[in-house]
Amino acid sequence: MLARGQIARAAAVARRSYATKVASFTGQKNDKGHYTVPIIEGDGIGPEISEAVKEIYRAAKVPIDWLPVDVTPRLINGKTSIPSETIEAINKHKIALKGPLATPVGKGHVSLNLTLRRTFNLFANVRPCKSIKGYKTPYDNVDTVLIRENTEGEYSGIEHTVVPGVVQSIKLITRGASERVCRYAFEHARNTGKSKVLVVHKATVMKLGDGLFLEAALAVAKDYPDISVHTELIDNTCLKMVTDPSPYQEYVMVMPNLYGDIMSDLCSGLIGGLGLTPSGNMGVETSIFEAVHGSAPDIAGKGVANPTALLLSSVMMLQHMGLSSHADKIENAVLTTLASGPENITRDLRGSASTKHFTEQVISRL
Ligand SMILES: NC(=O)c1ccc[n+]([C@@H]2O[C@H](COP(=O)([O-])OP(=O)(O)OC[C@H]3O[C@@H](n4cnc5c(N)ncnc54)[C@H](O)[C@@H]3O)[C@@H](O)[C@H]2O)c1
Repeated sequence: MLARGQIARAAAVARRSYATKVASFTGQKNDKGHYTVPIIEGDGIGPEISEAVKEIYRAAKVPIDWLPVDVTPRLINGKTSIPSETIEAINKHKIALKGPLATPVGKGHVSLNLTLRRTFNLFANVRPCKSIKGYKTPYDNVDTVLIRENTEGEYSGIEHTVVPGVVQSIKLITRGASERVCRYAFEHARNTGKSKVLVVHKATVMKLGDGLFLEAALAVAKDYPDISVHTELIDNTCLKMVTDPSPYQEYVMVMPNLYGDIMSDLCSGLIGGLGLTPSGNMGVETSIFEAVHGSAPDIAGKGVANPTALLLSSVMMLQHMGLSSHADKIENAVLTTLASGPENITRDLRGSASTKHFTEQVISRL
């Protein structure tokens, strides 16, 4: 039996070693000197935008071999699961790129997005939003980084009918998951040269749940004396963000799951919409990069989807893998294409280009 002091010290050591290990890429190159990256093409527009990414990567000679993997849900012991071959491949290569997956509303299998986050313990969802030069929106100085707790909160899937007409849906908050995501936010601030972390919450109402998240954040902040910690109520952040986003450039924002989901769409709206916003789901061992948007069933198969969000997610992935020069090359080509006029950008951005034309334009600027 360990004495109480020993347990506390072991926990402290575990926490420190965890911080250095957090989400660093440890994948290995294959025989050809390339990285193998599992790709989940996804539903709706997923295959169209994935194809655009693959074409651009081929043209840019990125040293990546794509490995298509299947996530068709299986019910194992009453739980939604993904095929074991897919789990093995993603665990082996420590990385994946993912297109959007449709989720049935109100019934059917558990969200596959949630299943993936749980299966690979993807505890932090990083969502940057930066104004696109040349693409005019009400503000041209948006530059936010939002980190969303990705495993619990309102998305824990704990719901039951108490009596017909009365449902309880439980928001689960744990100290462990809150500390883990907040620590990641402080590490991210340090690594990206930001000096402030903003903890967004509603602990005035959810005194215990959000109170615990806030408490965990303030405890973690003590380990980062070089970074100042700030707190704000979620409703206030929404109001201030749409009134003037510029002060938020200085912060890395961190918040519980649902707030992060909603707030990041709000930030997307400020830069031109979901077609432009990338994200990374970070885990201790494995990370999965994906666009913030869904499968866009309304435009699927029409050849008009905007592949930018998936492309910029793949750029985040390349940076994570240490392939920075390839990341810069692709990012520059995408951004200069977006700034090159309505004939070269897709309909969601008030342009007229097809997915194919946009892809060709990016390739011509590599
Ligand atoms: N991470 C994910 O896989 C993810 C995220 C959100 C929603 N979903 C799922 O996607 C499905 C559809 O959801 P939704 O309609 O609420 O949201 P959505 O993001 O699919 O679409 C919202 C609107 O944005 C447009 N849009 C989205 N991405 C676009 C792109 N790349 N180019 C051009 N236009 C784009 C769509 O045409 C639609 O008008 C649902 O089943 C939902 O559960 C998946």
